[in-house]
Amino acid sequence: MYGVTQFRELKTAHRAVPDDYMAYVGPAVDYDLLGAAQFSLLVALGLRHHHALLDYGCGSLRAGRFLLPFLDPGHYYGLEPNTWLLEAALDRQLGRDMLDIKQPTFLSHDSFGTGEFGRRFDYILAHSILSHTGPGLIDRVLSQIVAGLADDGLALVTVCQARWPRRSEAKSHGWVYPEAVWYRASDVRARARAAGFHSVALRWRHPRQRWYALAHHPARLPSARQRLMAGTYPRASLRKTAGRQVIERCPPHIWERVLAIRWRRGRGRTAGS
Ligand SMILES: C[S@@+](CC[C@H](N)C(=O)[O-])C[C@H]1O[C@@H](n2cnc3c(N)ncnc32)[C@H](O)[C@@H]1O
Repeated sequence: MYGVTQFRELKTAHRAVPDDYMAYVGPAVDYDLLGAAQFSLLVALGLRHHHALLDYGCGSLRAGRFLLPFLDPGHYYGLEPNTWLLEAALDRQLGRDMLDIKQPTFLSHDSFGTGEFGRRFDYILAHSILSHTGPGLIDRVLSQIVAGLADDGLALVTVCQARWPRRSEAKSHGWVYPEAVWYRASDVRARARAAGFHSVALRWRHPRQRWYALAHHPARLPSARQRLMAGTYPRASLRKTAGRQVIERCPPHIWERVLAIRWRRGRGRTAGS
C-alpha cells in the first residue's frame, strides 16, 4: 500500500510521458467535464466531507482533483496500477502539498482487489472501469466492489451499454484497453445481482457510458425523489396503446403537472356542462 510517505518514494520510479496523462484515461477534450461530472454526481447522491471514498482505477485523478480538496484528510483512497498517472496529476494538477494536507492512500497493484486497503468504504467510484472489463473479469471486479463497500455504502459505476451484443463482448475476457467492452442493460443488472448488489441505472451526463448505482440493500439506492432532485431520473416515455398515448414512465414532477392538467380539464367540463 502506498500511504503518503511510500507514495513519495514512487516519485522517481516511473516517468512515462507525463503529457499523456489526460489522453490515457479517455479523450482529453472531456478530461475536465468527466472529472466534474463524477464529482457532482457523488455530491448529488449524498457524498459529504466525512465519508471515506475509494476511487477504483483512479487514473490521473480526473475525479480525484475535485475529491481530494473536498474530503477530510485520510478519506480519499485510490487504486491505480499505473503510478505515472498519479505522478503526473500531482505535478500538473494538484500539487504535492495535497499529499500532506489530505493524506490520501494510494494502492498500486493490478489484481483488482480491494481487500488490501484493510477497510470498507462509504462510496466506491468506478468510472470507466467496467467499460474495459471482459465478461470473465467484470464479475471479479464487481465482487471486489461488493467486498469493499460498507453495508450502507453506495457504489457508482459506468458501463458501455449496448442494445445488442457487440463483437467485442464475445471475444474479450480480461482487461481490454483502450478499446471498450459493451454490455446490455439486462446483462449489467444480472451480473450486479449475481455479485450480491441491487442496482439502478441513472441518467447522468456522460458522452459514451451509462451510470449505475449499486448497493447491498435496495433501500440504499437513490430513491425516485433523490434521483429526480439529482437530475438523474429517466426521461418520461410514452407508449401508444389502442390508439391512445399512455405515460409509461414519468418523473414525479411531470406526473404532478399531468394530473393538474387532467384535473383542470375535468373541472372545465363540469363547469361548462
Ligand atoms: C479509462 S481509465 C479511467 C480512469 C479514471 N477512473 C477516470 O475516470 O479518469 C481506466 C483506468 O483503469 C486503470 N487500471 C488498469 N488496470 C487496473 C487494475 N488492475 N486495477 C485498477 N485500475 C486499473 C488504468 O490504469 C486507467 O487509469
